[in-house]
Amino acid sequence: MKYGFFDDACKEYVIERPDTPLPWINYLGNKDFIGLISNTAGGYAFYRDARLQRLTRFRYNNVPADTGGRYYYIKEKGKKAWNPGFLPMKTALDEYKCRHGLGYSIFESKKDNLSCSLTCFVPLNENCELHRIELKNESKSTKQLTLYSFIEWCLWDAVDDSENYQRNLNIAEIEVEDNVIYHKTEYRERRSHYAFFGVNRDISGFDTDRDVFLGPLRGFSEPLVVEEEKSQNSIAHGWYPCASHEIKLELLPGETEELIFILGYVENSPKEKWESEFKNNIINKSKAKQIMTRFATSESVVKEFNALSDYWQSLLSRFKLDSGIVKLNRMVNIWHQYQCMTTFNLSRSASYFESGIGRGMGFRDSCQDILGFVHLIPERARERILDLASVQREDGSTYHQYQPLTKMGNHNIGSNFNDDPLWLIAATVAYIKETGDSKILLEDLPFDMVKGTEASLFEHLRRSVQYTLGHLGPHGLPLIGRADWNDCLNLNSFSTEPGESFQSVDNKESGVAESIFIAAMFVLYGEQYAELCQRFGGADGAKEAKLMGQELDKMRNAIYEHGWDGEWFLRAYNAFGEKVGSQSCKEGKIYIEPQGFCVMAKLGLDNGMAEQALDSMHDHLLGDFGVELLSPCYTKYYKELGEISSYPPGYKENGSIFCHNNPWASIAETKLGRGDEAFDLYRRICPAYLEKFSEIHRTEPYVYSQTIAGRSSSSYGEAKNSWLTGTAAWTFVNISQAILGIKPDYDGLKIEPCLPKEISSYKVERFFRGCTYKISIERIELSESESNKIKTKIFVDGEELSAGTQQIPIQDKVECEVLVQV
Ligand code: GLC
Ligand code: GLC
Repeated sequence: MKYGFFDDACKEYVIERPDTPLPWINYLGNKDFIGLISNTAGGYAFYRDARLQRLTRFRYNNVPADTGGRYYYIKEKGKKAWNPGFLPMKTALDEYKCRHGLGYSIFESKKDNLSCSLTCFVPLNENCELHRIELKNESKSTKQLTLYSFIEWCLWDAVDDSENYQRNLNIAEIEVEDNVIYHKTEYRERRSHYAFFGVNRDISGFDTDRDVFLGPLRGFSEPLVVEEEKSQNSIAHGWYPCASHEIKLELLPGETEELIFILGYVENSPKEKWESEFKNNIINKSKAKQIMTRFATSESVVKEFNALSDYWQSLLSRFKLDSGIVKLNRMVNIWHQYQCMTTFNLSRSASYFESGIGRGMGFRDSCQDILGFVHLIPERARERILDLASVQREDGSTYHQYQPLTKMGNHNIGSNFNDDPLWLIAATVAYIKETGDSKILLEDLPFDMVKGTEASLFEHLRRSVQYTLGHLGPHGLPLIGRADWNDCLNLNSFSTEPGESFQSVDNKESGVAESIFIAAMFVLYGEQYAELCQRFGGADGAKEAKLMGQELDKMRNAIYEHGWDGEWFLRAYNAFGEKVGSQSCKEGKIYIEPQGFCVMAKLGLDNGMAEQALDSMHDHLLGDFGVELLSPCYTKYYKELGEISSYPPGYKENGSIFCHNNPWASIAETKLGRGDEAFDLYRRICPAYLEKFSEIHRTEPYVYSQTIAGRSSSSYGEAKNSWLTGTAAWTFVNISQAILGIKPDYDGLKIEPCLPKEISSYKVERFFRGCTYKISIERIELSESESNKIKTKIFVDGEELSAGTQQIPIQDKVECEVLVQV
């Protein structure tokens, strides 16, 4: 069953009913000012850090789930009020649509011949959310309306806000001037920022005290002020500050009114904090007023809205596919890239599943997010790489997470997730291949943000490699530490205390537990590191590359000797040196990660292991909705395995379809040249292909979720944790590079597709190093006997590249036509 449809021309998903299985959300804003917005106008906004600078409040574990948001109450004389997003009043609407687009959401609704269109977005270069409301009287008589706006302020630190009542219920402060409500809690002391909510016309009243607005014993669905149509002009002192405007409107038949509400954030320097030195405690509003003036007219807002569309248009023009397959086109051209932007911006911090009060930016997550984002805005990827490298420690280990505002590593979780350091190589290499900017390797960066410890990024990468080599176990395989990519495979934690974090519990570092996954990563990214040495390492580079080559051989051998289980790659050795992910295990006999990653690292390609590993993966792990993480699922808790066995069978890491690693499996298929299998795996978890099962899948059909309950669960096919998942980046890498074969490389654009039967020709426009490559790829059907003669032919602007070459050299034109025959 579907709850809406894709409007590809508008690049939108259109939701046609408010009661989606879960709130289906969107993100407003791309950089500093971010809003989360659901299909019922719920959600919240923050500035740069979802925890530390939360502007509006979100209630966790609420019922209904999606309570609190950007609420507009439309009250016609004598009738029950209603909201454009249906919630919170739940007044039945005659029409309802929510259009989630690229950086904006539009609510189109209608009640009693009054139509309302509410457009919410964050303009490109201003720290505010704009809400443009258009009301149209489609009836034959004049309508008298009162419109109430409503948001609830959060007292900045979202954690403190929800627990420290003894202080917080005393500190809220508000100012109201004209039609703008200013939230200035703690501005009197150590903060020099405030938020405001204003409207571009005169108001007949306001409220800033939530309890006055709602009235005793009432919730958002029945505010007294709205019911009585009378704002109280309340000023909050402590308690619960909010912002609500009252606007009276008279609409003649056919008449339209437009209003613009602005939710903004302002920082002042200590010198300009106050309105004047004599008026202490009256905040300096000049910046807010500038923003209010800037967006005072509909024209200015429409202009900004168009600028946002143009912005996305130009970003998405960097990779455009015309495959003739509608679902594939829409995912590649719109939603994959959009989700890549979102994961890049937010890492795993704020969604409707990530509370925004927890983990900040994940190290491995952010490194991987770059892989799918780097072609969009390489400059921002560069900045991020430098930030990430700066939380690396001198021994090469890295903090597992860092706070975006301070850029400091999170000490509570610490380091020793032994895969982390190697992801930095992946991100850096992807960046250099995209841009050619090898100078990034020379950037001097501190370790652990400590001044005076600076070393080049190249040296940081070297430390990553050395960290792995310095932490090998009894089989010559990398020690796993607290966990590798699989955060829940905690082979050294042995946790028995309820509530203890499996990852950071005082770790019984066994010095024995090893990860075949990290071993495969080392081969893949170690090879990339060796190539960096060779190319950019100067005089000693070749020597270092050679030494690295020896280490790589050793690692490959260790994997072949100790990492192969007979029919598939093993997952790990536990703290007692016993196998994990082996035929010999009672449960958890086979895991997906090493199958995908080993083959991605080209392990077993020439000895049959690769093929056998992937075949085994198909046999044991593949269901309708993708490849499950492991099988059989753990049915009880094994303290020597950790969190993975804490989940009921079929959920999360315990054998759900953990989408993130499905693209690895798919890329691995392309290493074997199995295009049909690769595309099949792509399709099974792809949201657009699952749209028709929305009542089962439940999360948004336009973006990936982290996890889909597996066959051993009691809710097979149900997804959770939508939006912020490494699936976004890896899927884009998979489809654009591995399957469609457009691979940025140091010296040019490589064309190496591995196609399924249903794609016989397609076109790609790829912006790469200043030139737009307009590529047409055709598959030449050859008979069996000719098939070993297939040689890719590439023509650039009519000229054929020398035989055997699959790489188009860097072009110094702004555009070129490429014809490829494969
Ligand atoms: C979550 C984490 C990611 C981890 C994965 C597997 O998605 O954000 O870092 O690799 O789970 O445990
Ligand atoms: C939990 C989750 C896992 C996630 C981790 C992040 O363990 O199950 O998916 O990666 O938290 O810390």
